[in-house]
Amino acid sequence: MTQAAPASLLTIFGATGDLAQRMLLPSLYSLQSEGLLPAGLRILGTARSELDRDGFANLVSAAIGERIPAAERNDAALRGLLERLDYAPASVDDGASMQKLAAKVGELRQGGDVLYHLSTAPRFYVPACHALGAHGAADAHTRVMLEKPIGKDLASANAINDGVARVFDEDRVYRVDHYLGKEGVQNLIALRFGNALFEPLWNSVHIEQVQITVAETVGVEGRGDYYDDSGAMRDMLQNHLLQLLCLVAMEPPARFGPNSVRNEKIKVLRSLRAIGREQVAHESVAGQYAAGAIDGVAVPGYAQELGRDSGTETFVALRAHVDNWRWHGVPFYLRTGKRLPSRCTEIYIQFRKVPYSIFGGRAAGDMRPNGLLIRLQPEERIELDLMSKTPGLDRSGLRLSQVALDLDFHEEFANARRRIAYERLYLDAIEGNGTLFVRRDETEAAWQWVDAILDGWRSGGTAPKSYPAGTWGPGAAVSLIERHGHAWRE
Ligand code: BG6
Repeated sequence: MTQAAPASLLTIFGATGDLAQRMLLPSLYSLQSEGLLPAGLRILGTARSELDRDGFANLVSAAIGERIPAAERNDAALRGLLERLDYAPASVDDGASMQKLAAKVGELRQGGDVLYHLSTAPRFYVPACHALGAHGAADAHTRVMLEKPIGKDLASANAINDGVARVFDEDRVYRVDHYLGKEGVQNLIALRFGNALFEPLWNSVHIEQVQITVAETVGVEGRGDYYDDSGAMRDMLQNHLLQLLCLVAMEPPARFGPNSVRNEKIKVLRSLRAIGREQVAHESVAGQYAAGAIDGVAVPGYAQELGRDSGTETFVALRAHVDNWRWHGVPFYLRTGKRLPSRCTEIYIQFRKVPYSIFGGRAAGDMRPNGLLIRLQPEERIELDLMSKTPGLDRSGLRLSQVALDLDFHEEFANARRRIAYERLYLDAIEGNGTLFVRRDETEAAWQWVDAILDGWRSGGTAPKSYPAGTWGPGAAVSLIERHGHAWRE
């Protein structure tokens, strides 16, 4: 394993694309304006468009103008970023253009490390890596960042991972799950392992159930062709929700470093109880939004947006189990969907009830279990639900009410700017730190688990159940949890 040095060149494939304009270039701008990019770092954009350096610089300036709020923009930072830029048009299937690109890389890296970021469709990952290898632009001092999705099932993920591995060793492959770059997700790690309070309670003796919700109000936003081939299970659950589950369920890592953290996450993924053909109808629900309204505004159904009928799910809910000593018997309810009533990403841990109520009478009926809510989006908040005495002189015994200890990070850290996840991810990848990236075995274990559910749906002829846009998914998602005596937190 070669010790990574900070990159002296970042090469972005797909540099004119949507992700680059919305997230990547604004993130680089913010790193530049905070003085966090290595002094000599050069940034080389590449894509099919026949732009020159100035053309690319104009595109970058426009993206920054559009995405960075005026109050955060300054000319010096923009100039500093533009000075680092270069551009070389290339097409992965055109050897001559890749050779020119490789020559440009050789010139700009000045003997230093290179970080390649493949922000392209996944079908280009293997050919791009091969071309870089063939033209002498991949060696022990180069690394590669890959966007999701890594394949659409285990077999295709294996094919991509094998193809990339022929050129880049695993410790030089940085698979992005942008949720890991979110401040709130790292805060979950801080909460669990920076406090002594939670760990003694963090197990099946004290926890009754865990819920992970990633709800979006948006529809498929013009990405119909990609999405229809993918669906909520592959687009969100296989990666973002399972990564959140890993961080909630993993054992304390020896240190906050790439191998320690990823070794613990993979154990969780391998402990997930398989949901196969026999269990799938009982343990999972697929849904697809029909026309409805969000915040009082009428929105079309999925098939209308797509322009054709489709059997793809835009919602999934399921009951998972982590079969190990810590979690045996604790259900992890996961749900995600598009066109739900509000945008929110949250993890809810419900503790077990008190073993016995000393209050009797009416108070016994008021009693609620303690809960810990970790809200990641839209705002970052941690809320601990406790029982408290309801004020008053009630003569027929104490009354109890549930109250929340509420920590709002935006109030607490009022000066902290809301960051784009890619700021963290770029900084780490440039510096060669893979802790917040996904290792090959994690991707593959996640696909293996998800593939079994998709196979169960296919073999059982499961069609997604319809739900009106602006509701919390099909009614079956409510029954899924209620038949086990639980309820979604709303
Ligand atoms: C992406 C999915 O990975 O995550 C999108 O492909 C989804 O479909 C997005 O909208 C959600 O990310 P965020 O950061 O807005 O929660």
